Amino acid sequence: MTDFILAPSILSADFAHMGDELEKIAKGGAQYVHLDVMDGRFVPNISFGIPVIASLKKDALRRGLELVFDAHLMIHDHECYVKDFIEAGSDIVTFHYETCKTDSDVLRTVDLIRRRGAKAGLAINPSTPVDVLIKFASEIDMALIMSVNPGFGGQGFIESALDKARTLRKHAPTLDIQMDGGINLANYKTVLEAGANIIVVGSAIFNQADVINETKKYSSHI
Ligand code: DX5
Ligand code: ZN
Repeated sequence: MTDFILAPSILSADFAHMGDELEKIAKGGAQYVHLDVMDGRFVPNISFGIPVIASLKKDALRRGLELVFDAHLMIHDHECYVKDFIEAGSDIVTFHYETCKTDSDVLRTVDLIRRRGAKAGLAINPSTPVDVLIKFASEIDMALIMSVNPGFGGQGFIESALDKARTLRKHAPTLDIQMDGGINLANYKTVLEAGANIIVVGSAIFNQADVINETKKYSSHI
């Protein structure tokens, strides 16, 4: 059976005090920190990249935080950067199916990530059918179902993602299934019931005054 995991996304955190923000979610009981990397090409936004993750990892270790670094790459040409993201401290590297030209591109990237000692995740956009994740389910460590169009935090949840999770869970009973985008206190239980076991929560946690307490509201129930 798969464990339930909370993965706060720091996209909506205070970028001037990232170490403190990580400490807050760890104190709140989060197991992962979700790192949204955007290149301004695959998505119409730019966030942060390799050196920022490396600094955060160092700081997290110095503070004794046991957060799994979960990097969600919304970038083209991910094969060129996978090695650097892992050396920077990413424990999971997720890339997008939409950036791959062929099935062998997917498999080659999975292999590249695993050979460097990290776990490999495959993500799909809301407009990509779940069949893709079913096809690769036995080849990957984690599937990521986007429940918003990637690029920005704070968007509304796209309901069709729930059916994708239900379908994928039937085909892959033990696969880690992450859902990302528009998740909040009102809908996270529905997301878990649908079959996702890792939930990404960004703005719903970091836009609150008390981040530790807000994180606990999720972590104490999953
Ligand atoms: C969107 C990102 C998400 C997002 C989550 O491109 O992949 O991780 O920032 O943030 P919320 O929870 O605010 O939708
Ligand atoms: Zn994400």
